[in-house]
Amino acid sequence: MSENNNREQWGSRIGLILAVAGNAVGLGNFLRFPVQAAQNGGGAFMIPYFIFFLILGIPLMWIEWGIGRHGGRHGHGSAPGMFQRLWKNPIAKYFGTLGLFISLVIMIYYTYIESWTLGYSFFSITKMYFGETSFESMKDFLYSYQGRMVGDFSSVWTSYIFLMITFTINFWVLLRGISKGIEKLAKIAMPLLFLFAIILAIRVFTLGTPDPNNPENSVMNGFAFIWNPNFALLENPSVWLAAAGQIFFTLSVGMGTIHAYASYLKPKDDIALSALTTSATNEFAEVILGGSIAIPAAVAFFGVTVTTQIAMGGAFDLGFVSMPLIFRQIPFGEFFGFIWFLLLFFAGITSSVAMGQPVVAFLEEELGITRKKAVGILAIVVFTAVQFVVFFLKYGFLNEMDYWAGTFGLVVFALIETILFMWIYDGEKAWEEMNSGGDIKIPRAFFYIMKYVTPLVLVTVMGWWFINDAYPILVLTGVPVENVPYIWGARILMIVILLGLFLMVRNAWKRKEE
Ligand code: PHE
Repeated sequence: MSENNNREQWGSRIGLILAVAGNAVGLGNFLRFPVQAAQNGGGAFMIPYFIFFLILGIPLMWIEWGIGRHGGRHGHGSAPGMFQRLWKNPIAKYFGTLGLFISLVIMIYYTYIESWTLGYSFFSITKMYFGETSFESMKDFLYSYQGRMVGDFSSVWTSYIFLMITFTINFWVLLRGISKGIEKLAKIAMPLLFLFAIILAIRVFTLGTPDPNNPENSVMNGFAFIWNPNFALLENPSVWLAAAGQIFFTLSVGMGTIHAYASYLKPKDDIALSALTTSATNEFAEVILGGSIAIPAAVAFFGVTVTTQIAMGGAFDLGFVSMPLIFRQIPFGEFFGFIWFLLLFFAGITSSVAMGQPVVAFLEEELGITRKKAVGILAIVVFTAVQFVVFFLKYGFLNEMDYWAGTFGLVVFALIETILFMWIYDGEKAWEEMNSGGDIKIPRAFFYIMKYVTPLVLVTVMGWWFINDAYPILVLTGVPVENVPYIWGARILMIVILLGLFLMVRNAWKRKEE
């Protein structure tokens, strides 16, 4: 196996931190988190959330940075090669395939959502949706944009154009590589993202009581709504599952993308502090900024009852329906709308390039393809697969992919990598690897957490899923009949992608043995 040391590297420490923070800070922080918190007990949600941050999120971050830097030292920027380094059994690389699969599948639908944010930033500055006065009509605006119905937009093509622009930027960044592409993007997008988010949070704080005749609808009640704890909900296991799921998604752990970024570290670069810094940055963006914008603003304008309904409707209603309704009512709303959607776009793109990188690294390093060709192949695959997501959106195609890759798959992958690193490779060696070059020493307690607690919690989560959810979800209980063929279509597409990746992994290693 090649001890390849002329791999690309991050240009600077701050660039690396911004890039990994950009990977983690995404649509999940500003859309998914507030909805999850509002749906699952508000302030009480933060209890399981922070517990899982400590026993799953942070440990997995260290594990993934450790596996990633270790793999990079031996010329591997993707999970198959990294796992093969940790465990000599020929099956190891196939487990690593999951690290390509999950990030690739998420990339397929995530870039589409990301492209809506670009479209909506344009519609904000041009006041295109400012004529929609009710929830229904604003939702129709979104649905016709998405091509689910004819309305303000007569077809899906406007949204298709923004998708193409989004794709082009994503693949262009990937083509430019680690320091000239991903790092540069993060250095521009991340400071702007924080600036926009802070401006918006201040604007929301100062909303007061927008309608004096309706003093109940105030921004303070909005903060109360998202943060007042409903402890009774903590008895419900699904609240705990939701908290674990959010920690995974927001930190981008269990996907293969953190490993990829960490593989471009120098062998003696710090991991211990950097992993912690990026996690803390993500939590600030999520809890402080993400929690202070969409939900409090919705309560100030529409009251608690309506906001509850919006939150139940999911992340898209909150971001693309209730926020636009607010922007059209406030002074300089076109400006605030523009920076809200641009903020989401920056959050999205610094995450979606991360989802592409593992596959690019795999094609380059394990199959010996040039970066240009590798990015081209990735673009063709994502472009082909996204057609189904665009045209079958209303049949739940996107949700199905999100479920298997973005919710279920990452738990499986996280369990595999933890056992591999902490048990098969050797816990003490793994500990040394994570601490070597460190600017801080990881508290020893985390050794025991990583070795025992993290895998045990992951097994429990999976066991719980197996008993309660596996059967009804597999047989599609409660799914509208007309959606069933499309959902099976989504499953078949994912199986095809997974099999394709398995085959490529097999060929890559055959090629090496020759
Ligand atoms: N963490 C990102 C978010 O919060 C999502 C993401 C998933 C990023 C997978 C990279 C890989 O939106």
